[in-house]
Amino acid sequence: MPENTLTITDNRTNRTYTLPIEDGTVRSMDMRKIKTSDDDFGLMLYDPAFMNTASCRSSITFIDGDRGILEYRGYPIEVLAERCTFLEVAYLLLFGKLPNATELKGWISEITHHTMLHETTKRFMEGFRYDAHPMAMIVSTVAALSTVYPEAKNVQDPANRLFQIKRLIAKMPTMAAMSYRHSVGFPYVYPDNDLSYTENFMNMLWKMVEPKYAANPVLARALDVLFILHADHEQNCSTNAMRSVGSSMSDPYVALASAAAALSGPLHGGANEQVLKMLDEIGSKDNVAAYIQKVKDGHGKLMGFGHRVYKNYDPRAKIIKRTAEEVFKVTGRNPKLEIALELERIALEDDYFVSRKLYPNVDFYSGIIYQAMGFNPEFFTVLFAIPRTVGWLAQWDEMLRDTEQKIARPRQIYTGERKKKFLAIEERGG
Ligand code: ACO
Repeated sequence: MPENTLTITDNRTNRTYTLPIEDGTVRSMDMRKIKTSDDDFGLMLYDPAFMNTASCRSSITFIDGDRGILEYRGYPIEVLAERCTFLEVAYLLLFGKLPNATELKGWISEITHHTMLHETTKRFMEGFRYDAHPMAMIVSTVAALSTVYPEAKNVQDPANRLFQIKRLIAKMPTMAAMSYRHSVGFPYVYPDNDLSYTENFMNMLWKMVEPKYAANPVLARALDVLFILHADHEQNCSTNAMRSVGSSMSDPYVALASAAAALSGPLHGGANEQVLKMLDEIGSKDNVAAYIQKVKDGHGKLMGFGHRVYKNYDPRAKIIKRTAEEVFKVTGRNPKLEIALELERIALEDDYFVSRKLYPNVDFYSGIIYQAMGFNPEFFTVLFAIPRTVGWLAQWDEMLRDTEQKIARPRQIYTGERKKKFLAIEERGG
């Protein structure tokens, strides 16, 4: 018997099947050979919420959740966060290698020259209600870009795809900043192409009447690091949405809108906003123990804790904790940090959290930094969506190049009734 195989005996038929194991995986389609009769459909695998199903082969991001390891294209996240800029990491994720100096210069120039929005897109954003949630504005505006760039529908052409990828990476900060200015009632600020990616973002957010915006370099670098940490995270909920919607060959703008919509939920990227709400509710360090007891009693979750994949400290949370100290030197310490640290201390000693392997995730400390920088919690998920755009697009492009991929279409176990007798409306009572 070859070593890399799995032998299954079907006790219904006493038949034995030997299936190949490749990369620690058996193919679900091989299960279909396991039948009770010729007209039997064959066995399926039932996996609600994809707890144990690999949906693709990917060479972009590696996570070892038990050991708390995260790598982009083989480079540890700690090194990239320390040594690279966000656009350098974006290049790495998209093209599979770090750029040399010439390539990086060209890449920065190309992204910089796509930062402007079409004026109709600006006017589209002006139409939102004064109190529109910025994430809902982003989801809708990204989808609306599809009307501006109809040629993006040609997703089979790699060069066309790359063009749209550059546009999206370049325009996300512009749309994000406009959604922020809209919510505070300030006029929109146009991009300044002399500035770096994050400096220009800060310029579009916070420039008032000064002729040239000067970004604080510590804050600009902190944002850059946060963007690097959020750039990709393999097959998470929003990336799965991007791949799934993109698999029908829809254009990248509408596909990315669906990914951003998935990100907006409180169990995913929306968690950073919820963490701040939770810290507000706790109010002071003295109330932490009682709050944890409430969670253990089944009343709500500790937001920013737990992860589907990490069953160890999220490596991004460690880097964010360090970045927070740098930011606080400029902004002053966010008083919520004390509550968060106490929450972490108590939770990490408590058997409820230890036994379930619940550790702080990326969202636990990021909101505290964002708030210290002056963002309100509603905007936090937008700050996540900007860098994750790179990951979504890298994964989308990889999916379209993968000859094994087809339109994503799961199976179901039908639990409803069948062959019911139809009653005309007058026979249905009521
Ligand atoms: N607080 C308290 N208990 C929790 C938490 C939490 N944050 N997270 C999980 N648990 C408990 C569950 O109640 C469950 O307990 P049980 O076994 O007694 O029923 C056990 O831990 C396992 O949790 P699941 O919900 O099965 O884990 P799952 O992998 O489905 O969920 C998730 C992962 C959604 C991240 C979850 O931990 C959660 O809701 N956390 C809070 C929200 C959050 O921070 N999300 C951001 C994730 S990072 C990101 O998306 C960028």
